[in-house]
Amino acid sequence: MLEKINLVTKEFFNELEKTENLKSIEELRIKYLGRKGGFADLFEEFKLLPGTEKPAVGKLLNESKVKCQNSFDSLKIRLEEQTNNNSQFLDLSLQGREISIGTKHILMQTLNEIKDIFKSLGFSVHEGPELESDYNNFEALNFPDNHPARDMQDTFFVNEKFLLRTHTSPVQVRLMKTTKPPLRAIMPGKVYRNEAISAKSYCLFHQVEGLYVDKDVTFAELKGTIVGFAKQFFGNDIKYRFRPSFFPFTEPSAEVDIWWQPTGKEGRWLEIMGCGMVDPNVLVNVGIDPEKYSGYAFGMGVERIAMRKYGIDDIRLFFDNDKRFLQQF
Ligand code: DAH
Repeated sequence: MLEKINLVTKEFFNELEKTENLKSIEELRIKYLGRKGGFADLFEEFKLLPGTEKPAVGKLLNESKVKCQNSFDSLKIRLEEQTNNNSQFLDLSLQGREISIGTKHILMQTLNEIKDIFKSLGFSVHEGPELESDYNNFEALNFPDNHPARDMQDTFFVNEKFLLRTHTSPVQVRLMKTTKPPLRAIMPGKVYRNEAISAKSYCLFHQVEGLYVDKDVTFAELKGTIVGFAKQFFGNDIKYRFRPSFFPFTEPSAEVDIWWQPTGKEGRWLEIMGCGMVDPNVLVNVGIDPEKYSGYAFGMGVERIAMRKYGIDDIRLFFDNDKRFLQQF
């Protein structure tokens, strides 16, 4: 009988090894472990044995059945897990996941467009730091200490000598100090103002500064460059005007307006940038001889001109990072 038990056990394990799904493992259970299965038969036979043989045979029979039952149970669990995973994997009715790919922020698109236009006009691109000295941001640009012109720009001071730059004009100073004329560059970047946040103003925005210094640079050249830019950026039929203005670092100074005509509404003039001829005091401050050289400069707000171009009426939209806004561009 001992041999018979070993044989049944061996056959059980042979078949178990070949079992690959829940259906065949159930057949295996019925054949060996079920009420009329192989082990049940062995137990019937065991009952008929003489008492002397019972201890040894009973021990082997019990151990063999437990071994088979344990192996059976663990394979069944594995097969059930596999079936669950497979059916999840194969659930063709499951909705696909949308992968959302970002777009370039409208401000960066606008900035790139501005850069491309000026590059095509022979300007190079330079950048300066956002943490700037009071000297570069104000003094070198002819805003004397305590001059009321400083109030034109509400400033975040870091300490007495340093601040978050309020405009990109200090990059002009840096560039003129290190590069001899002729120089022709634009200087894009972030600027900061300590202003109440509203639809029209934000504590942070972007500007593009422009500078051209050479011998005999004239206001007519400034005008030609700005008009060329405005036509390329807003379209050939753009209506514009130059209006006299004041900046400490340019003389004479002007502001440029474009005619804004929203459909169905009254049109009006909107300012898009400041500009002028570099003040001789600024040239002296950076070590350029104003008797030999002259230059023009301009500065525009990127948000402002993007708002004009795309009809956006609240500057805060650029910084909210709301996908519904950003996806429109
Ligand atoms: N820095 C000025 C501002 O932030 C803009 C500006 C005006 C820049 C005239 C210039 C300029 O270079 O010539 O309001």
